[in-house]
Order: sequence, then C-alpha cells, then structure tokens
Amino acid sequence: MNIKASAPGKLMLFGEHAVVYGYPCIVTTVSPRVYVEVEKTSGQFKIDAPQVKDLRFVEETVKQFCEKYKVDSKILIKTYSDFSSKFGLGSSSAVTVATVVALSKLYEIKISKKEIFDLGYKVILNVQGVGSGFDIATATYGGTIYFVTGGKIIEQLIVKGMHLVIGYSGTKADTSYIVKNLELRIHNSELEHRKIFEKISKIVEEAKISLVNADWKTTGELMNQNHKLLQELGVSTEKLDKMCQVAVNAGAFGAKLSGAGGGDCMISLVSEDKIKKVESSIINICGEVIHVNTNI
Ligand code: MEV
Repeated sequence: MNIKASAPGKLMLFGEHAVVYGYPCIVTTVSPRVYVEVEKTSGQFKIDAPQVKDLRFVEETVKQFCEKYKVDSKILIKTYSDFSSKFGLGSSSAVTVATVVALSKLYEIKISKKEIFDLGYKVILNVQGVGSGFDIATATYGGTIYFVTGGKIIEQLIVKGMHLVIGYSGTKADTSYIVKNLELRIHNSELEHRKIFEKISKIVEEAKISLVNADWKTTGELMNQNHKLLQELGVSTEKLDKMCQVAVNAGAFGAKLSGAGGGDCMISLVSEDKIKKVESSIINICGEVIHVNTNI
C-alpha cells in the first residue's frame, strides 16, 4: 500500500537568531509543500528523491522513527517538492515532518503533533547540530506561530489579511554555518549580543499584538527595526539590505531579511494596492520575486 503525506514550507516573520538563544520568534507557513510517499518492500530501505540534495534528513527521520516505534525500515520512500530548496523556505523541515507523518500512517501508529515535533526536532539537531526547531513546529502545526526555542511555547496566532512580497536574493544561505559563526562571535562579546537579542525579543512581543490586530503600519515599522538589529548582528548582506530599502521606498510598510541571512529571502509587508510596485522595485535591482501564499 502506498501512503502519502505532505508538509508546508515556512517564512520567518520576526525573531530569527534570537530564537536560537531562548527568545521567541514568529513564523508562518507558505503554500508550497513537500510530499512524501512510503510503501513497504521486501528488500532494503530505499529513497527515491531526485529533488533532494541532502538525503540525511530523510535517512535520519527513518532511523529515529524506526528506533522509537520499533518497526523495521524495509520501505521505499519517494519525495517531491513544489519548491526549490535554494530559497531557504524550509524544505528540510518539511520533508522531515512529512516523512514522520507518512511513516506513522504506514505503520498505523497514533502520533500527536507534539510527538511529531519532538521527533522532527531531534532529526534537525542530529543532522545540522544547531537550530531552534521553529521550522519543524511550523511544518507540524501550520498557520502563523509564536514559538519559543525547542518548542517551549508553540502558540497559534490568528492573522488575517497579511500581504507579503517575498524577494530571493539570488544566493543560497548556509544556515548551519551562519548560526555557528554567530555563536563564535557571541562567545567574544556575550553581553553586547544579549542586548540585541533582548531588543529583538521586545519587537517579537509587539509584533505578536500588531499582527493579530492587523495593524500593518506598526508591524511594518517593527520589521524595519528587526532588520536593523539583524544588520547589527552582522548576518545581512548588501543585496538583502538593498532589496529591503527599495521595497520600503516603493511603499511597503516595512521589510526585513527572513531566516538566517547571508542570502536567501527578504520579506516586505504591503497593502494590496502596492504589491505590483514593490515587486517591480525588487525585480529592478535583480531580485527574484517568489509568489507564495502565507499563513496556510
Ligand atoms: C534560520 O532560518 C533561523 C535561525 O533562527 C535558525 C533557527 O532558528 O533554527 C537563524
């Protein structure tokens, strides 16, 4: 029998990096999904995943699942994706969560969302060595989430009418490298970095309210402030800064990088009538606009 499951990608709205150090973040799902199909075979464990460059997430998920639930791994797994892993939209976490869900269906094991999160987070830590688990939480729970490191708090937020224009900088970021590199720098000046994280954390708390109240002007200003603090952390790039600047000049409420920085994507919050103008401003400086729905 062939079993299917899928999970969505994500976009960080507020609080990246600080969330690795015990602070909250806000993250939302995007419409593109990663799909997983599993079936039992009589032979060895096999993966057919032409779009996945890094098979370690699928391999580690199968290993952890089979160990925890004491089932064998004589299975064939196929995965395919709506989106390229180059954008940093969370294809690794989505494939991890979709694999856990597919395996639980295949072996008819009842598994709670918290169990999916815990197993998925373990996989991320085993493979990457670092990470807050925010992406696993988003792929597991869906929607827009207020999240604290390691899943200490996972709170769903009701956000309606948010319009984001998303720009890809053209460079794939290496999240593990950027997170580990920041960790080294924090080692040398802990207090200074803690102060920045405290400020980011305050922004996240304010954004939690403004997002739910659909107060886009305040949310946009908070995005600009969050971006400045990410610049101070040294994780932005010239291209990301420029894309944020042109988006704001074209009428966006605010803009910031989204994710680890060092490349990947920026997001800008816009009113519906400004979407085209903001998109053009990003394209004009050679950014790539990615069309996805959010808060799925
Ligand atoms: C990367 O998309 C976001 C970081 O905060 C890392 C993490 O939370 O796992 C930089």
